[in-house]
Amino acid sequence: MSDAPLYLEPRLSAAMTSLLRSGPFLQSLVAALGSPLNVMLPDQIVLNLEVFRSVLRRHQLSGRFFFAHKANRSSALVRRLTTTDAGLDAASIGELQHALGCGFTADKVMATGPKDPEFLWLAARAGAIVHVDGLGELTAAAGFVRTYGLPRLRVLLRLSGCETSGARTLSRTSRFGTSFKALGRLLDTLQYFKDELEPIGVGYHLDTTGLDEKAAALEGCLLAVEELRLRGFRPRAVDVGGGFGVSYLAHAEQWERYTTALTQAVMGARSPMTWGGHGYGLRAENGTLKGALGLYPAFRPVAGAGYLDELLSCPAPRLDRPLGTLLLESLCDLYAEPGRAAVDQCGVTLGTVLEVREAGGGPPMVRLALNSGDIGLEQHGILVDPVLLRRDGTTPATASGRPVGVHLAGNLCLESDLITRRTVFLPALPQPGDLLAFSNTAGYCMDFTATAAQQQPSARRVAVWEEGGSWRWCLDERYWPVLDTGGQRA
Ligand SMILES: Cc1ncc(COP(=O)(O)O)c(C=O)c1O
Repeated sequence: MSDAPLYLEPRLSAAMTSLLRSGPFLQSLVAALGSPLNVMLPDQIVLNLEVFRSVLRRHQLSGRFFFAHKANRSSALVRRLTTTDAGLDAASIGELQHALGCGFTADKVMATGPKDPEFLWLAARAGAIVHVDGLGELTAAAGFVRTYGLPRLRVLLRLSGCETSGARTLSRTSRFGTSFKALGRLLDTLQYFKDELEPIGVGYHLDTTGLDEKAAALEGCLLAVEELRLRGFRPRAVDVGGGFGVSYLAHAEQWERYTTALTQAVMGARSPMTWGGHGYGLRAENGTLKGALGLYPAFRPVAGAGYLDELLSCPAPRLDRPLGTLLLESLCDLYAEPGRAAVDQCGVTLGTVLEVREAGGGPPMVRLALNSGDIGLEQHGILVDPVLLRRDGTTPATASGRPVGVHLAGNLCLESDLITRRTVFLPALPQPGDLLAFSNTAGYCMDFTATAAQQQPSARRVAVWEEGGSWRWCLDERYWPVLDTGGQRA
């Protein structure tokens, strides 16, 4: 029975590593702006999308990437993107207004998800691409164009539930989009509204890591493109949605070791590794392991742009040729809406240690000036260690020192307000005034679940960039990608 520390060390980009080595800089930001604090690295999103672009080049495809804004609310990220050829996926009227206010022109914005009338109207009025969720939306959009004399609106049809081989449904049921089977009715409607609507293509978004399901959906879309052509339309894009994923951990073996040990702990074969013996979906019943691990695969050998590359390289289930080749032959552009993967390494959340309390022989309880809504890592099933930044600016290395297992609690008066239910190993016992840095929170983990519960302060947000070997910063809302704005982002 080995109880050696089970680290889950975060994968860190070069910029993130450099930032986390700048302890005094980060301490001074938190001293001025409070805890929690969200620190954004806007230059990183540009690098990430460039890697996605390189995949298109490798497959000789043309196309466009739309950053799925829902992953993060930062203005700096959105404004930084306006200087590139990237587009933006807006999933609400608020996101659309934000994108337009940040400098995106509507032709580079795609309105996705189910839409309320105001959102649909503004998208149509501005001239965004409308990723149509269903027949009702298609009719409503055409109605707005007709009633308000708007220019012909570009629409993409979101499809779902693709069946490739007989009864075997490879693609999961979704409450979004229109079933492939109902495509005919969408096409009838498009023919009726041919002066109002211009169908530029079809697409899907599947909330899964399963490549087979995505391959089936992509092949289905290529077949749907042919249907559109048979009806006299001129589609030119296939949208493969988002869901390319991120690898959060630096070492595959730490993930293997951790999940194996967790299974042993649930079975009572080693000491507990979690608060209250939580099993992350696993449980022991009469000496047998039951349930399934409900966790994000925190280490992923292939994620982000690499996942797209794999999708384009894999053979279509029925046509049995690489999907990238079929896409090329279809003369369609590839559209995609990466969210989580677009903001990989683009943000870190800092929290101040308030108290370290002995816990009756168990791991000490570390109380932080933030709560589980401010760090949604665990809510997304992502297990990864924070980085300890000492009050004096130093960063103890994981390999050195005397590792200590602790539990991390938030600032709400709720038993359940734990930042993670895991016993987290840190290279040294934290002290009040130290910071814990939760890296890679930009994708859904820093503002998607944040609340104003108990009127605890919500995180402020800053943008940072490296200049001449040192880190500079400004408030996120003051970040504009222009030169020489009075000492702001240069
Ligand atoms: C239509 C659509 N596109 C893109 C995304 C982004 O997904 P991800 O952040 O996993 O890349 C989502 C996520 O919900 C979505 O619904």
